[in-house]
Formats: sequence, structure tokens, C-alpha cells
Amino acid sequence: MFDRRQFLVVAGSGMLTLAAKESKAEDPFDSLSANVLRNARHNGLCMIRHPTPSAIASHAQITAVDEPGRPLLVAGQVFAPDGQKAAPHVTVYAYNTDANGHYGENHTALPPRIYGWMKTDDAGRFSLRTILPGRYPGMQVPAHIHFTLWGAGYPLQWVDDLRFEGDSYLTPAMRSESEQLADFCTIQPLSESADGCLRCTFKIRLQQQMNFS
Ligand SMILES: [Fe+2]
Repeated sequence: MFDRRQFLVVAGSGMLTLAAKESKAEDPFDSLSANVLRNARHNGLCMIRHPTPSAIASHAQITAVDEPGRPLLVAGQVFAPDGQKAAPHVTVYAYNTDANGHYGENHTALPPRIYGWMKTDDAGRFSLRTILPGRYPGMQVPAHIHFTLWGAGYPLQWVDDLRFEGDSYLTPAMRSESEQLADFCTIQPLSESADGCLRCTFKIRLQQQMNFS
């Protein structure tokens, strides 16, 4: 996944130890091998805040109301691996850069400052209020939002990032790859509502395997 590779450039270490220490009995981190945990800096685990709150709603606003940037509402829906059946009660963790393309406080690489959890409703739906992410400074990487999912019988897994039509850093290869995913395409159009909020939809197809390595 293109952006995950790019992510490695900016990610540092630090969350791994925290994750290992604070994991709870039912926590998805418990099922990860020592090698996967050791590789957190490279596989993206270090960007997952820990521990997961016990009470999570299907909607989350992951920015302060005065966060600089264009407000964005993502209406998501999660499906089983068959792509047909909705997946209820799955935990969805999302994070993105600020309007200037930085994840952490004071332009640091991690941990992410804009992040949050949702749990899909009975129809597999969730919604996320954030800002339109900024693009990494000095890199030709499209703006994107990261999603990681687990629970309701599914192992911890990352999914392809959500990106946005109109981003000049999107390449033909990225567009083609997204189009092949049909209903689960990862490059989504943005619309703007009367209140100035950008909106898009995003369908996610789960898999049965943990994919952090
Ligand atoms: Fe990223």
C-alpha cells in the first residue's frame, strides 16, 4: 500500500512499549507476536493509540472544533470479507495529519494528534468528523486518512487509506488500483454541504487475517 510505505519515512518509535504494557486481556494487541510488536515502527502499529476506550460510539469527532482546516465528515460502512454482509460492532480506529501535513504535536511524526475510535452500528456504519488532511510536507503523497479495524470476530488489520478525488498527487496507478476495487474504491469524491463541511463516503471490506507483519 503506497501510503503505508511512505508512512515509514515519517514514523518513529515510542508507542510499541506503551502498547505492550497496557494491553488488556481482550485487546487485539495481545494476539500479536513479539516480532510484529518489535516491528511497530515500520508496520504502523506505533500510530495506534492505546489502550482502546471501553465505550465507543458509531460516530466520533476526532478534532477540536477550532482545529485549523476544512471540516470533513466521512460516512463509512464496514463489510464482511464477502463484500455483501455488513459487519456490525467492529472497532474502527482512524487518524490523519493536520492541515499542514503533520501527525504529531509541534510537527513531530508521532504519536498522531488527530485520532479516534468508532464502533460500527448494526448496519456496519460509522461516521467520522475530522478535517481534510494536509499532505506530507516536501513529499508527493496524496492526502489520506488511515483506518485500522478489529473486533466482532475480526483480527487487527489495516486497510487501504482513504484518499480524495482531485488531489494532484494521485497517480494513474493509484487511480487504476482504486477503480478495480469498485464499491470499495479508496479514492473518493468530496462534496460540500451548505454549512461548508466537506463530505465523502468510504466502504471498507474486512479480511479474516491479521495483516501487520
Ligand atoms: Fe499517512
